[in-house]
Amino acid sequence: MRKENQSSALEFILLGVSSQQKEEDFFFILFLFIYPITLSGNLLIILAIRSDSRLHNPMYFFLANLSFVDIVFSSVTIPNMLTSHLLGSKVISFGGCFTQMYFMIAMANTDSYILAVMAYDRAVAISCPLHYKTIMSLQSCALLVAGSWVVGIANSLPHTLLTASLSFGGKNEVVNFYCDIASLLKLSCSDIHFNVKIMYLGVAVFCVPLLSIVISYIRVFSTVLQIPSTKGVLKAFSTCGSHLTVVSLYYGTVMAMYFRPLTSYNLKDAVITVMYIAVTPMLNPFIYSLRNRDMKAALWKLFSKKISS
Ligand SMILES: *[C@@H]1O[C@H](CO)[C@@H](O)[C@H](O)[C@H]1NC(C)=O
Repeated sequence: MRKENQSSALEFILLGVSSQQKEEDFFFILFLFIYPITLSGNLLIILAIRSDSRLHNPMYFFLANLSFVDIVFSSVTIPNMLTSHLLGSKVISFGGCFTQMYFMIAMANTDSYILAVMAYDRAVAISCPLHYKTIMSLQSCALLVAGSWVVGIANSLPHTLLTASLSFGGKNEVVNFYCDIASLLKLSCSDIHFNVKIMYLGVAVFCVPLLSIVISYIRVFSTVLQIPSTKGVLKAFSTCGSHLTVVSLYYGTVMAMYFRPLTSYNLKDAVITVMYIAVTPMLNPFIYSLRNRDMKAALWKLFSKKISS
């Protein structure tokens, strides 16, 4: 009972990205640019897909879901960071902190699984085009999307609850700009051995899709290489290459952040988290749609409809 009272009165202080005011200002301006781009880029993709019936097929449903997840993902951290910088108040309530953690972990996992579904979808489309319609039926497509959401939502719950039930013994300075699980575990004065094991397990669940992405792209490459057309090969390599770049950026930074001992965490690591919190959700819409002719046509239609109305 005492512990509960203590926890509910507890607030956390988010120390930010850096201890230097200059660097803090730099990241504030960076986020101020990145966030509107992320928001409008992803929103445009959802609107374009909604409004163009030619884009009502699995590949674009996946893309729209990815955009939706990216919007939520960056909206649970960046606006809070921006306003606290403006107001000069770094305090976050106990409830706010764990709500943020819950959505962060859930969206990161859903994102990861949708990326895998998208890679699988491309692999099927390219290596067995004749069976694509039967394999990627509307039903299996909905199942894959629902599965991604369920994994995200379910994987997040134990981590958030286990961390929220720790005791912090009055310490409340989180060395990050959002309520990051590793930073909070490090802060706690309870025995966190079990929590850390569960956290590593969670990171493993997050990384499973990476394996499926790699296998899918190997399938794509090996199929494309059998086609005797240099132009087609080049196009496939440049498309898959850009997908693989954002994917490795995403998983690389998450693994760099979480696959190591907690004792090595310090404020500098907040910079790594900027990569997967801000940069990849911003890049996703560009990487996955700007090279795509149908997507460009749909965006164009959306704009011209807006202008003429
Ligand atoms: C996500 O995918 C489902 C199933 O394919 C689709 O019905 C839904 O419209 C998509 N979500 C968004 C935001 O487009």
